[in-house]
Amino acid sequence: MLGKKVGIDLGTSTVRLVVKGEGVIAGEPTVVALGAGAEWSSAMGVAALEAVAAAPEQRLYRPLLGGSIVDPVAARTLINHIVTRAVGRQRIFKPDVVVAVMASLAGDQRRALLEAAILAGARTAYLLDAPFAAAMGCGMQLHGSNGHLVIDIGAGKTDLAVLALEGIIAGRSLSGHGGQRLHACIEEHIKSAHGIDAAASEIEEVIASLLRVGPHEERQLAITGRGEGGERTVTVTSTEFLPCVDAHVRPIAAALDEVIAETPERLHDDIREEGIVLCGGGARLEGLDRALEASSGIDVRVDGEPLLCAVRGTGYALDNFDVLKRNFMYIR
Ligand SMILES: Nc1ncnc2c1ncn2[C@@H]1O[C@H](COP(=O)(O)OP(=O)(O)OP(=O)(O)O)[C@@H](O)[C@H]1O
Ligand SMILES: [Mg+2]
Repeated sequence: MLGKKVGIDLGTSTVRLVVKGEGVIAGEPTVVALGAGAEWSSAMGVAALEAVAAAPEQRLYRPLLGGSIVDPVAARTLINHIVTRAVGRQRIFKPDVVVAVMASLAGDQRRALLEAAILAGARTAYLLDAPFAAAMGCGMQLHGSNGHLVIDIGAGKTDLAVLALEGIIAGRSLSGHGGQRLHACIEEHIKSAHGIDAAASEIEEVIASLLRVGPHEERQLAITGRGEGGERTVTVTSTEFLPCVDAHVRPIAAALDEVIAETPERLHDDIREEGIVLCGGGARLEGLDRALEASSGIDVRVDGEPLLCAVRGTGYALDNFDVLKRNFMYIR
């Protein structure tokens, strides 16, 4: 094996990278900075945020929205940066690259990503659907005939799938449904109910430490934001956000019901035995596991490192090209 093997989890909010044998997993915000007409002299991730803060002629671009590619130039630039980060500019041997994407990503966008990876210098480029990436990354053994049920709740999308015999048996890919939508709901509620614009970090704090799925003892949190008359601090409660939580959880529970209903009877025992695994940042929402357990009647567990399921899965896939070749689009 001469070329490097590079796995990329192309998330809506965070892009994560693994290089086989180097044990490195790096994450960066999914953003690029581009100057006018200088596509390839641009920056990505944290460096892009810094570049835009320092130089007003640079602009920040977000290649993904709702799990889909909304800016192909920015996406191509991002892939180029990541591959370069992984293997360096001086390459004797070209790398093999696997990119994890939303299961419902459109065909033309898939092709564009593969081409971007080849343009960035990849020898072969593969796409891996998020449920496969998440399932492999959380340790599910996809080689046998057993059924597995995994849910990946990210910032821009939610992917649910029953996997068996190395294929998707039943699945739902909810484009646009994820943490960013929940974030927007909370932001709007705080604005309308308390009259302040809370910073994104304050809203993420609400999500991480205040929200809870289902009935619970009310909790409170003080948050600061800009309103009329300047900076103000208000107290918000967990119960006032229940409509946002409900709007977030209900479609996931409904999709889970549909996926289970479409799953052949012979796989139900496997899934019951193994349980459903939750991956992605949204898996950390407190009480979500219990709520889905109650609605589905199947044990649910959250992976120990839910944010890393998909990128770890790309790493496993790089050692199992047979699986990739059978199931996924690739360019060589
Ligand atoms: N404790 C928590 N409860 C609920 N959501 C959380 C929690 N912590 C993080 N999140 C959400 O997780 C999301 C990020 O997850 P992740 O990194 O898996 O997304 P992504 O891979 O970038 O996006 P996608 O897979 O949708 O393209 C953010 O929207 C964030 O709000
Ligand atoms: Mg993701």
